[in-house]
Amino acid sequence: MNQKLDELLANNRAWAARIKSQDPDFFSKLSNQQTPRYLWIGCADSRVPCTQLVDLLPGDMFVHRNVANLVLHTDFNCLSVMQYAIDVLQVEHIIVCGHYRCGGIQAAMRHQEFGLIDNWLRHIHDTLNKYQNYLAAFATEDQRMNAVCELNVMEQVFNVCDNTLVRNAWRRGQKITVHGWIYGVEDGLLRDLDLSLSTVEEMKAAVQRLDLKTGLIVA
Ligand code: CO
Repeated sequence: MNQKLDELLANNRAWAARIKSQDPDFFSKLSNQQTPRYLWIGCADSRVPCTQLVDLLPGDMFVHRNVANLVLHTDFNCLSVMQYAIDVLQVEHIIVCGHYRCGGIQAAMRHQEFGLIDNWLRHIHDTLNKYQNYLAAFATEDQRMNAVCELNVMEQVFNVCDNTLVRNAWRRGQKITVHGWIYGVEDGLLRDLDLSLSTVEEMKAAVQRLDLKTGLIVA
C-alpha cells in the first residue's frame, strides 16, 4: 500500500516544473507577495476546482470553500477570509459560485441525515422554507433542485453584500462587485446568474426583483 501518496507528490513536481519552464521566475515572484483581484466563495465539492475551471494561476484568486457555499453572518472562518480579502488584498470582485447537483442542497431537500453537517445545512432549510410556494410550482425534483441551487447562490450574494465588511467598503468608496455564478458539473460551464452588485442600491433592487419573481411580494 502506498502510504505516502507518491503519485500526488510526483504530480506536484511535474506541475511546478511545467510552470517554471514557461516562466522561470514564477514562484520566486509569487513568494514575495500575492495580489489577487478575485475572492471566490464556493462549494467544497471536488468537482468544482475553482482556480482550475477559470484557468487562473496561483496568486490570481483568494479562495474560501465550504459545503454548499454558504455565507453566514456568524461564520468567523468565512468572515475572516472576506475581511482579509477586502481590507488587505483589496480584491475588486467577490464571486459566490454554487453548482448544480450540490450534495449539500440535495441532502437538505431530501431530509437526509449525515450527522454534524445536518446543522450546517439547516441554513438551506431556511431558504427552502422562505421560497416554498415558488418551489412548489416546479414539475420535477430535478428542476426544483436546480432552482434551489440558484436561489442559494442569490441568498449568499445578498449575505455578502449585507455584511458590515462589504457595506463599510462601499461606504468608503472602495470598488467591490459581488457576483452570483453557478457551475454545471455535467458540462464544465459557469453560468452568470445576472447578479453583479456594486452598491447598496443595486443590492436592494436585486432583492426586490427576486422577491417579485418568487412571489414573496406582489407588484
Ligand atoms: Co456542493
